[in-house]
Amino acid sequence: MHFVKTLIYLATLLGFVMAQSMQILSPPAGTSLTPGNNFTVALQMSNFPENIDIVAVVIGLQSCATACSLYEYMGSVLYQGSFAPSGVLAANFSVAVPSSFSSGAAILGVDTLYMIGAEYQPDLQYVNQNVTVS
Ligand SMILES: *[C@@H]1O[C@H](CO)[C@@H](O)[C@H](O)[C@H]1NC(C)=O
Ligand SMILES: *[C@@H]1O[C@H](CO)[C@@H](O)[C@H](O)[C@H]1NC(C)=O
Ligand SMILES: *[C@@H]1O[C@H](CO)[C@@H](O)[C@H](O)[C@H]1NC(C)=O
Repeated sequence: MHFVKTLIYLATLLGFVMAQSMQILSPPAGTSLTPGNNFTVALQMSNFPENIDIVAVVIGLQSCATACSLYEYMGSVLYQGSFAPSGVLAANFSVAVPSSFSSGAAILGVDTLYMIGAEYQPDLQYVNQNVTVS
């Protein structure tokens, strides 16, 4: 009985943990970006139930003008570095679209390196958003 309870607890915990994610609040899907102009990337790590330390983020823009992959390529790196003061789970970044960036569909990618739990277990997460450049 105790074993079953433990299993249910673990399954619930796992489901809970897997539901946590960095979210791209802005730009919304389908946003049109202009080469040479800045835009704001608003990020929010949602509802972590346990200790979390967001070490760094990378924001990239991958052109789909010829071909693109949804599989975690960053393309042009627009920002890489620290996220926010310790304990703060949201941040805004003003980043520039490279002036020579190809027109057409593009994927905004965000890599987040973070550590969770009392023992600071490291994890790397990739999320993305579809945008266009014109
Ligand atoms: C990000 O920018 C939005 C819009 O200006 C603002 O409402 C929000 O508070 C900002 N978030 C942070 C973490 O600074
Ligand atoms: C535009 O983005 C670049 C990085 O891509 C940043 O260094 C610069 O501060 C931003 N400019 C403004 C006005 O926010
Ligand atoms: C971006 O578009 C692709 C292809 O239409 C789709 O499979 C993917 O789910 C979209 N991603 C987001 C974050 O909306």
